[in-house]
Amino acid sequence: MILDGKHHAQLLLMSLKDESISLTQRFRRAPSLHVILVGQIPSSQIYVGMKEKRANDMGIKSVVHRLPDTVDEPTVLALINTLNHNQSVDGILVQLPLPAHIDVNKVIESICPQKDVDGLTSINLGRLVRGDEYLIPCTPRGCLHLIHAWKQNLSGLHAVVVGRSALVGKSLALLLTQRDATVTLCHSKTNNLAAFTQQADIVVAACGIPGLITANHVKSGACVIDVGINRLPDGTLTGDVDFNAVLPIADAITPVPFGVGPMTVAYLMSNTLRAMQQRLDSTHAHPLH
Ligand code: GUN
Repeated sequence: MILDGKHHAQLLLMSLKDESISLTQRFRRAPSLHVILVGQIPSSQIYVGMKEKRANDMGIKSVVHRLPDTVDEPTVLALINTLNHNQSVDGILVQLPLPAHIDVNKVIESICPQKDVDGLTSINLGRLVRGDEYLIPCTPRGCLHLIHAWKQNLSGLHAVVVGRSALVGKSLALLLTQRDATVTLCHSKTNNLAAFTQQADIVVAACGIPGLITANHVKSGACVIDVGINRLPDGTLTGDVDFNAVLPIADAITPVPFGVGPMTVAYLMSNTLRAMQQRLDSTHAHPLH
């Protein structure tokens, strides 16, 4: 089975649109997502464009703050501070990567956790470690959705996640552990990677190495999730999995593009609606705070 991210994202977005409409009626304004984009990295511009378009389709007001790559850190922090205090801003996302002269951790930590729709502040990552899933990073949440489209019950299954970023690998390892899978976290420095992945019921490739996972890495009947989006010198997009070689062996596999990518964008919309609802509900319940 090919896990069609475009299809699953469309289904999710349909129910999110209803939610967006009812939040708009309830709070008398549209949900809003503010994206900060620094510099001119082509892939970041494409991703931000997709986020903006999807938000508009959902009745979510999207605002993109485009800053030159020469912008200094205090200017970025001041913008985030303004958005944090603006009551009509529901979600704030800083598109990564940032230029080297800006401290990415300092920038992420400055985002109000209630508006942190990427789930990357230490408060939200800390909640995830505890198993309290509040605003969860969108890509791992999208991976989990596709894994559940393959199998609902993950209890006792062995998942091998290849990649240890906070944005994807570490967060997905936590989400899978919380659903009773046994998780092995591998990465680009793992010795004899195939010895681990060959044992896996679920393989997730998220380390940005084109074609890393070959037929030799996958057990028959496994579910293979490809988070990689790599552009080859000839311009074609390819994942971290050798799709054609693994397809006959796997029980389920995601394509690149149209696998995990659309799910990431859909869960960003989900997080924006959740951020609005939870922040405004808590403000109404505790008007003095
Ligand atoms: N760059 C690549 N993926 C992402 C993402 O999910 N969020 C942000 N903020 N930046 C990214």
